[in-house]
Amino acid sequence: MKGVIIAGGKGTRLYPLTKVVNKNILQVYDKPLIYYPILTLRDAGIKDILLISGPGHAGQFLDLLGSGKELGVDLSYDIQEEPKGVAHCIAVAEDFADKGPIAVILGDNIYEDNLKEAIDDFKKQGKGAKVALKQVHDPERFGVAELGKDKIVSIVEKPKKPKSNWIVVGFYLYDNRVFDVIRTLKLSDRGEYEITDLNNKYLKEGTLTGYKLKGEWIDAGTFDSLLRANKFIAEKAKK
Ligand code: DAU
Repeated sequence: MKGVIIAGGKGTRLYPLTKVVNKNILQVYDKPLIYYPILTLRDAGIKDILLISGPGHAGQFLDLLGSGKELGVDLSYDIQEEPKGVAHCIAVAEDFADKGPIAVILGDNIYEDNLKEAIDDFKKQGKGAKVALKQVHDPERFGVAELGKDKIVSIVEKPKKPKSNWIVVGFYLYDNRVFDVIRTLKLSDRGEYEITDLNNKYLKEGTLTGYKLKGEWIDAGTFDSLLRANKFIAEKAKK
C-alpha cells in the first residue's frame, strides 16, 4: 500500500513560528516534526510516500528530505493549491494512488503505536475505510466518534457537546474508491472539504471500521501540544 502525508495548510495556530518555516519542519526534540509521520509509515511497512504541501512550502521539504533515502523511504512531492480542507488535500494524491488503496497520515501527528496491525486488519477487511481512534481529555478540539458495541455509530467534527471522549486521529486507510467519494463532498460551513465528511460517507455505507491506539498520540499543531510532543519524545529518548 502507498502512503500520503498531508502537510498543507497555513499553520496559523503556531504563528509567528510558522511565518517563514512550515509547521511540519519545527523541532520535536531531536528531529523535525515531519520525520515522525514518515517513520510511522515506514515502520508500518509503507515506503512509497507522497508528501503534499502548500504553494511555496515544497522546497523546504525537498531540501530537508530529498529522495527520502536517508530515512529508508521513497518520497514524491505534490502541491495542494489552496488550503480547502484535509479531504481536498487527499484528492491531490489520485494519480499517485494509481487505483490502489492508500494510507493517509497528517504531517503534525505523532504516534507511539506501530500501525502495521491496523493496516493488516484493513487488508483483511478488503473494502471501505478504517480510522484510528484515541481517548483524550479535550475531544471538542477533534473529530469525535460515538462508539457502539464494536462499531462506530457517528463522527462529528469539533462538536460543542462531544458524545464521547474517543476521537478520530490523523491516520486513515481508504480503498481505491476514495477519490470518487471525495468528489461527492460539499464544502462545510467553515469552507472546507472535511475529512470527517469523507469518513461519514463510508460510515453510512457500513464499511468504516475503527482501530483503537494503545500508545501515546499527539497532534502537535498548537503551542501547548507542540511543547507536550517535545517533552514526550525527550523522555522516551532518555529511557
Ligand atoms: O489531528 C486529528 C484531527 O485533525 C482530527 O481529529 C480532525 O477530525 C481533523 O479535522 C483534523 O483536525 P485539525 O483541527 O487538526 O485540522 P487542521 O485544520 O489543523 O488540519 C490538519 C492537518 O492538515 C494540518 O497539519 C494541516 C493540514 N491541512 C489542513 C487543511 C485545512 C492541509 O494539508 N490542507 C488543508 O487544506
